[in-house]
Amino acid sequence: MTDADAVHHSVGVVLVAAGSGSRLGAGRPKAFVELAGKTLLQRALEGALAAGASALVVVVPEDLLAEACSVVGRACGAGPVTTAVVPGGAERSDSVRAGLAALAPECDIVLVHDAARCLTPVGVFERVISAVAAGASGAVPGIPVVDTIKTVDARGVITGTPDRGALRAVQTPQGFAADLLRAAYASDLQATDDAALVELFGHDVVVVEGDPLALKITTTDDLERARALVAEGDR
Ligand code: C5P
Repeated sequence: MTDADAVHHSVGVVLVAAGSGSRLGAGRPKAFVELAGKTLLQRALEGALAAGASALVVVVPEDLLAEACSVVGRACGAGPVTTAVVPGGAERSDSVRAGLAALAPECDIVLVHDAARCLTPVGVFERVISAVAAGASGAVPGIPVVDTIKTVDARGVITGTPDRGALRAVQTPQGFAADLLRAAYASDLQATDDAALVELFGHDVVVVEGDPLALKITTTDDLERARALVAEGDR
């Protein structure tokens, strides 16, 4: 984000951290699991703050509201960032909706970010913000797909092989013009991610360059990989 963009836009981040993390099997929600001395939530918060967010809403499981408030308090201190911590819902989309409802109304750009992608470099945030600040309705980070992808039917029989050159694995933060994302969430449309919802709502979403470090930590293998990346880069 250039200084000019920063002056003219107010960026809010909805950080969704209300998943159960059952696939990680750590005995507590994923965002509260430690990765080299810091929880995923702490790391994700630091990324959002480094990207220049002026408002931050953290969405967590209801029983961890108090713990999350103290983590957010420590990360944001007495700084200028407006913060809120709210309980999430059953599905990720319910958590995003709860976060949007608590986001400061003056934010004109909103980023929705998975706490599970806690190693996302600040450059990824900046590319997403810049694309929306430059006029895109939505922008999401994506990386080329290295595997050949097949579509299959219910029997597992291959029905197609999409051109790999046209495929991207998308990550978060996903950024949008705030009014547009609010309107899309207020509609009856249902989608698997925020970009798909905005696409269904009839707006183009662009893909900007993502980063392998923005991996989503889902399984214990992912956590081990993230630990190795942190050790490698001393993050
Ligand atoms: O479950 P999954 O890994 O797809 O979750 C992606 C992100 O969405 C995680 O950061 C998780 O905490 C969050 N999430 C949420 N509320 C849910 C489900 C997932 O905030 N009900």
